[in-house]
Amino acid sequence: VAEPPGDPLADRYADRARAMTVSEVRALFAVAARPDVISLAGGMPFVQALPGDEVLRVVADVVGSQAAVALQYGPGTGHAGLRARLAGLMAEDGIEADPDHTVVTVGAQQALDLLGKLFIEPGDQVAVEAPSYVGALSAFSVYQPRYLQITMDDDGLIVDELEDALAGGARPKFLYVCPNFHNPAGVTLSLERRRRLVEVCRAAEVPIIEDNPYGMLRFEGEPLPALRSLDPANVIYLGTLSKIFCPGIRVGWVLASPPVIERLIRFKEAADLCSSNLNMLVAEAWLSEPERWRGSLTGLIDVYRSRRDAALSALQRYFPEGSRWTHPAGGFYVWVQVPGMDSRALLPSAVEHKVAYVPGTAFYPDGRGVDRVRLAYCYPPEDAIQEGIRRLGELVARPVAGAAAPGSVAR
Ligand SMILES: Cc1ncc(COP(=O)(O)O)c(C=O)c1O
Repeated sequence: VAEPPGDPLADRYADRARAMTVSEVRALFAVAARPDVISLAGGMPFVQALPGDEVLRVVADVVGSQAAVALQYGPGTGHAGLRARLAGLMAEDGIEADPDHTVVTVGAQQALDLLGKLFIEPGDQVAVEAPSYVGALSAFSVYQPRYLQITMDDDGLIVDELEDALAGGARPKFLYVCPNFHNPAGVTLSLERRRRLVEVCRAAEVPIIEDNPYGMLRFEGEPLPALRSLDPANVIYLGTLSKIFCPGIRVGWVLASPPVIERLIRFKEAADLCSSNLNMLVAEAWLSEPERWRGSLTGLIDVYRSRRDAALSALQRYFPEGSRWTHPAGGFYVWVQVPGMDSRALLPSAVEHKVAYVPGTAFYPDGRGVDRVRLAYCYPPEDAIQEGIRRLGELVARPVAGAAAPGSVAR
């Protein structure tokens, strides 16, 4: 997407502004938000499934009973009562979390930005999964790193590949991973790989940033231990309430060692002084009644599981032979490969046919992924998901001029 022309300040901007291009996702959201388009693009939680009257009651209670705190500035670390609740959530993942080693952020997205600011000098190497969450790539790219991309398969990041890169002299400042129901790949890092990954990173002194927005949205199978629980000293853990409660509340957090937390708080205070006390108190109150939040979470999981099923059966039915896709056991996304497809070139016709997706190229810093698409099944109802995938299936089956030859793009 071109920069706006005739900008009189164009030569004043810092280099990092030049490094930031408009994300494909932003352009896409405008189109995908049109009511006549079936959007399999954005990972938007289905907030309509939340009990609206309960949410309203919690907000009213907070304002009614704690207005002097809720409407005031708060500490940069975040509200202590909420941090204690978040420690309780992490305990469910086997993580022993001291609330004092936690800082509340404006979504996990702010945590990614603050961590980029803390660790990355221009030109530093950072290791990421290939593909990676597009928002993490945007957050880190502000600080102008070089990316070391580690391939994934159906069991998540290929640890051997990371080990080979380290043996070959790679020295990333950190490794960023999303082990559960990956965005965009939909896969989960296996137990054996989790164990090896923490060993390899510990031995090479590469800290791990573990991003876990979807871990509680499991449809089937047994939960796997968080990397943080396997190696508390070397893993910085990110959580968020966006997918298990709602993203509008913008509550995320970081759990890390005290020196990292202290530095993050300084950056956090410089960026926004503090997160919203009102939102933090609402989040704390929401989490204070286990029956309520667990009940609502179970409802969300049921919705997402049926939508996942609808997406997988439609792919089976409508996508051309030779296509491959992942089988997410939780979360929001299925990652589809159609050999020979050019997912960027195809997008305008998809939108003409009133269906939207995110092209695979958005999830790699180097333009790979042209024969992949990410389909998010979290938001539209089952019949719309099936119809959307039917329309896409027809389009991808047509040859596109200038498309990559099958097999020419590395995974
Ligand atoms: C992997 C991953 N990390 C972080 C985020 C950001 O979440 P938040 O809403 O907490 O900022 C998302 C949102 O989609 C995500 O998928």
